[in-house]
Amino acid sequence: MDDDITVAFVPAQTTWSLRQQVLRPGRLISDCLYRGEDDPRAAHAAAWPAPPAPAVDRAVVLAVGVVLPEAPPWEANRLDGWRLRGMATRETARGRGLGTAVLDLLIAHVSSHGGGLLWCNARTPALHLYQRAGFVPRGEVFEIPEIGPHRIMWRTVPATPGPPFL
Ligand SMILES: CC(C)(COP(=O)(O)OP(=O)(O)OC[C@H]1O[C@@H](n2cnc3c(N)ncnc32)[C@H](O)[C@@H]1OP(=O)(O)O)[C@@H](O)C(=O)NCCC(=O)NCCS
Repeated sequence: MDDDITVAFVPAQTTWSLRQQVLRPGRLISDCLYRGEDDPRAAHAAAWPAPPAPAVDRAVVLAVGVVLPEAPPWEANRLDGWRLRGMATRETARGRGLGTAVLDLLIAHVSSHGGGLLWCNARTPALHLYQRAGFVPRGEVFEIPEIGPHRIMWRTVPATPGPPFL
């Protein structure tokens, strides 16, 4: 990834515009919000071409993603489940490692918050991104109406040793 890119945790609102443009074009931003993304344990990450700034302008955001606590559908009682959602890179910035950098930061968040089972419904063109990050597929490819083919991808994330998190 380019040296002049910053990847950091950001407020949820910073990610919404790019998420809407890439993943739900034509829909309202209010239709693009995820249940649980305001959970205090959730984390939103973004990449942008600038030095670290206390408040990044959402117009320059190039890549985004979120992790939030959610048990996987095949193990609904699991307490250490985390779901990855909203992975999106601006079309002109793809293939430069920004998605991978956002994903790495979100995995690090899960690790520093007790670790567990991290899963997502991955769009099939993006499967390799998750495979490279240690995810494996579960079940068959399935169709989400109006969006396209998906496959569940998952991995375990070890907890970072250290004092217990709150
Ligand atoms: C998937 C996505 C987030 C990857 O972001 P990125 O910044 O290009 O990611 P990286 O540069 O770190 O890695 C590129 C990987 O993304 C995947 N990819 C999917 N579409 C791509 C595209 N149009 N251009 C480049 N890579 C693409 C490839 O598998 C590639 O992996 P590879 O290099 O190992 O083959 C981005 O392509 C995107 O926003 N796609 C449209 C929305 C989407 O499908 N989101 C994922 C929902 S599960």
